[in-house]
Formats: sequence, C-alpha cells, structure tokens
Amino acid sequence: MFGSLKALPADPILGLLAKYRNDENPQKIDLGVGVYKDEAGHTAILDCVKAAEQHRFKTEDTKVYIGPTGSPLFNDEMSKLIFGDHKVLAENRARTVSTPGGTGALRVAAEFISACKTGATIWVSNPTWANHTGLFQASGLNVKTYPYYDYENKTLDFDGMLTALKQVGKDDVVLLHACCHNPSGMDLSREQWQQVVEVAKGVGFTPLIDMAYQGFGDGLDEDAYGLRLMAENVKQMLVCSSCSKNFGLYRERIGACTIIGESAASTDIANSVLLSVVRCIYSMPPAHGAAIVETILSSDELRQQWYGELKEMRDRINGNRKLLVDKLVEQGITRDFSFITRQKGMFSFLGITPEQVQRLQDEFSIYMVGSSRMSIAGIANSNVDYLAQSIAKVL
Ligand code: LMR
Repeated sequence: MFGSLKALPADPILGLLAKYRNDENPQKIDLGVGVYKDEAGHTAILDCVKAAEQHRFKTEDTKVYIGPTGSPLFNDEMSKLIFGDHKVLAENRARTVSTPGGTGALRVAAEFISACKTGATIWVSNPTWANHTGLFQASGLNVKTYPYYDYENKTLDFDGMLTALKQVGKDDVVLLHACCHNPSGMDLSREQWQQVVEVAKGVGFTPLIDMAYQGFGDGLDEDAYGLRLMAENVKQMLVCSSCSKNFGLYRERIGACTIIGESAASTDIANSVLLSVVRCIYSMPPAHGAAIVETILSSDELRQQWYGELKEMRDRINGNRKLLVDKLVEQGITRDFSFITRQKGMFSFLGITPEQVQRLQDEFSIYMVGSSRMSIAGIANSNVDYLAQSIAKVL
C-alpha cells in the first residue's frame, strides 16, 4: 500500500530548522521559523510560565480525561483575553474550546466549516501563512485568494482586497489575520478594519480571524481591535488563537477555537457540532499548556509579570526592525528598506529574489523562507552587522 507514495518536499518553514541546526558555521543566523529569540539567540521559558508550572506541580492532583472542550477556566480566560469586555460575551454568544496549538484551532475550524457546508470556499490573503492552504484543503475546503500585499510598493493592496471581498459569496468564509500578518507584517489600520467590517456586513460572508500573535504588534487590546470590531458587527464568526508565541509555549501545543453565533441557543447547537469535530480528530486537547495559561491569567501577580515579559519581547522585535534598517543604510545600500519599520510582529519580507535568499543560505549561512520572509526575532546586536554586510553582498 505504501509503495504508491511519492516523497514530498520538506515543509518550507519547518524544513529550515533542520538545515540551520546542521550548519556548522559559527556565524549562522536563523531568520526562519517564527519563534521569539532573545539577544543570545535563545528561546527561553518565560518566568511567569516557570512560576505557573511550579504552582501546578504542587497543586495538580489528577491526570484524568479533561473532555473535548478542554479546561473551562482556560476557555473562559482566553475568551476574556481575546474579546475583553465585549458584548458577545455578555450576550452569551461565544463558545471556546482549547485546541492543540493555533494550528489545531485552524483544523478544528476548517472541519467545522466543512460540517456547515461541504466543499465551502474559504478566501485567504495573498500571501498568507504557508500552512493555511494545505490545512484547509485537507478538510475539503475550496481555497481562493484575495489580493493583500503589494510587493512592488511594500504596502497593502487595500483597494484590491476590498474589491475582491465585495465579490465573495454570502456562504463563503474569509480568513483575516487579526494582527502581525504572517508573512508580510503588513496590518490593516483601524479605518481599514472599519471598511472590511462594512463589506463583511454587506456581503454576509463569515469571517474567520486568525490571531496567532496577540501582543506582538502594539499590545494585547490594540492587536485585538479589528477582531472585536468585526465581532460587534457580524452575526457569526470564528476565531483561532494561539498561546505559542505570546506565552512562549510552542511545544506545549495550546490554542483556542471560538465560535460566535447569532444567539445563545444557535451557538449551543453550533458548539455541539464543534465538540463532535474535536472528538473525531483528537478526542480531547492536551492539558498542560492550558493549565499554565489559566494559572497566569487568573493570578493578578503572574498576569502582571506576563504583561511585562510580553512587552519585553514586543519591544525587542520592534527595536530589531529599526536596527536592521539602520545597518543596511550604514552599508551604503541605497534601496529603501524603511518599510520594515512600518510593519508589525514577527515577520517582514526582505523583498529579495529566491536566488538571493538561496545565496544568503549557501554563502553566508543566513536562513529565511524562500519568499524572503524573515523572522525579525532572530536579529541581534551580535549578528546584525554580519547580516547587513551579507545582504549588501547579495543585492
Ligand atoms: C511560522 O510561521 O514560522 C510559525 O507559525 C511556525 C509554523 O508552524 O509555521
């Protein structure tokens, strides 16, 4: 049976990890996978996470099954983190399940959409996270794209985006990145969100908002602005969120999938379908990551500590954006890279060709995705001169 299989290429993002690890060049730089790194290039465990784990170690007294919904306390705390003081919570129109990471949340959402309408169409931004398309297609969805990033001018093709969204079907789903667009770093302004919300209301499509980087753009509430505005104005929507980046819980695999329905009663019906989807994929989510997050969010002290640690990560990434642009200027490069400072979150496209990306890898041991997506967190004071010199050489 296996004999008919053909080998597939390595994942364009995760495949870089192995290559980077095997590279013996002491000057190597990892700008590949979207993980936060400190000045020393290390992805440390947050202090608030360590404290929460110690607390759990002392107080946890069972490993019995948790159920398809996951931990109710985690779901409750996550809903508040996502929506704040929002009417959808007051109206009891949101249901959240814990999922294995943000990817698990997306897969649950995809299967849920498929249960609503077999072969439904989902529109994703061009470009979008490399895994979105495969993941949705694996659930039988029909994936189409709307214009998003203007590669030429390094900005948003907002007119193209709006024109396309006005033409999607009423029963279609539109995926929007809440903040820190992956891979472009190009986010919608508040005014642009308002216009997208108007189109969503007019057309009646269902928004699916992917929020994998809450807190990495401008702040926790600021990054949820568009999502909350959308939730205020549409009858139904889906939200997929992740605790991988903002809590640094990558390998614990913890995220959440939230559905919002028109009324409490109709959301309960939708939730029963959501739970059946979960049961058929992985039955129940892992508990450890959720336990850490709920411990942090339900303790004033740990929550404050987390705010501080998250701000430190955000500030370092924003500082790296300016640092790189300044160093490229210092190298005498005349091409304008200032757009990097106007983008948000973990990623930006450097805007070089795939051949130049390959040269950076082969000749300088600098790793980024073939599209020239850079994970800005991999930049440090200790490597930025070498990075800027190498970029100058391949340009
Ligand atoms: C990324 O885009 O690099 C991250 O979201 C990690 C992943 O799973 O691709």
